[in-house]
Amino acid sequence: MKTAVLAYSGGLDTSCMIAWLKEDYGYDEVVAVLVDVGQDTDFAPAIARGRAAGADDVVLLDRKEEFADDQVAKTLLANALYEGAYPLISALSRPMIAEAVAGLALELDAEAVAHGCTGKGNDQVRFELAFKAKFPGVKVIAPLRDNVWTRDEEIAYAEARGIPVQARQASPYSIDDNLFGRAIEAGMLEDPWIAPPEDAFVLTGSPASAPAPVEVEIGFEQGLPVSLDGEELPLWKLVTALNGLAGPYGIGRIDMIENRSVGIKSRELYEAPAAIALIAAHSALEDLVLTKGEAVAKRELEPKWAKLVYDGSWFTPVREAYDAFFAKTQELVSGDVRLRLQAGTPTVVGRRSEHALYAETLASYATGETFPHQAAEGFIAIAALETELVAARERKLVRV
Ligand code: ARG
Repeated sequence: MKTAVLAYSGGLDTSCMIAWLKEDYGYDEVVAVLVDVGQDTDFAPAIARGRAAGADDVVLLDRKEEFADDQVAKTLLANALYEGAYPLISALSRPMIAEAVAGLALELDAEAVAHGCTGKGNDQVRFELAFKAKFPGVKVIAPLRDNVWTRDEEIAYAEARGIPVQARQASPYSIDDNLFGRAIEAGMLEDPWIAPPEDAFVLTGSPASAPAPVEVEIGFEQGLPVSLDGEELPLWKLVTALNGLAGPYGIGRIDMIENRSVGIKSRELYEAPAAIALIAAHSALEDLVLTKGEAVAKRELEPKWAKLVYDGSWFTPVREAYDAFFAKTQELVSGDVRLRLQAGTPTVVGRRSEHALYAETLASYATGETFPHQAAEGFIAIAALETELVAARERKLVRV
């Protein structure tokens, strides 16, 4: 018996894929895996649709907590923003989903795994690298790369097979979401000159109509946020709660042209209120605690980590090595950050840590400070030696 395990989203593409895998690819058994990473999906109809499409089993796995504690936590420690702006939302869920699919495929001794990505995006790369990392040698099927189907063709195909098509008006955009945020692309957004219409956004309000500013206090332990306004929360709940608080201010709305792994530029909108707020707060706490050397080294590595993960290299020794370095730097990054939520930006207005290297007695301009002023003279004399040699050489050369 030939079995295929499918990364199933519950949408039209992957529902049709269940039938294609049986009819066109000759699989006897198709198992659809639906992974809950905090996306805004109605799971019961998605499961029913999968069964109607002919899935022998539709498995729903709740991975919200693991997703937060692994991918999201590491992203926060790394302050990771791809191309300086995108907190990797979709790039984070793919390895988690692929790992679940590959794990079940191994268990069932399946011949193949399948995903619903097209040939133009990053997600195919992420899924397939992760599939191969978790199930070396597995056959990968990507029906939407083999054949380009229009939405109308898919609807006709689904209706002919009794697969229920969602009644609600199909969004003009391509959406991917999870608890860390939401990615919006395609439709009218493909023209980079067109301003994003308000209806593209769900998690955020317009900064133009933001409510009055409020302050929130975020508690950190070893670099990870553990409490919100004094209430201790597991990470997935803290992120969800902060999305709710920061979203109405338009915090974490991103409109960018990004360089995809596959060589094209695309226009993307993102909504990631908690991600952007937490990265601002976390890096502010690091500024207080890390040595200058640690900070310089870490800030150099952060964008490299973001690119690596964006490009699908989650399951790699180098990503783990970066994370070991980041984790080492976080041992003393515990404390609190006061964050003012206001139109469009999270502003850090206060930070404290018992491990701060900031010393008021050194930094202060008031009386009683302890900075060794006399030593500054010698510091500059030595630091200036080379500058003076270069200047003297230039004067000599001008005269000749
Ligand atoms: N461009 C983003 C990324 O590569 C978002 C992809 C979202 N996927 C989607 N089907 N809308 O991470």
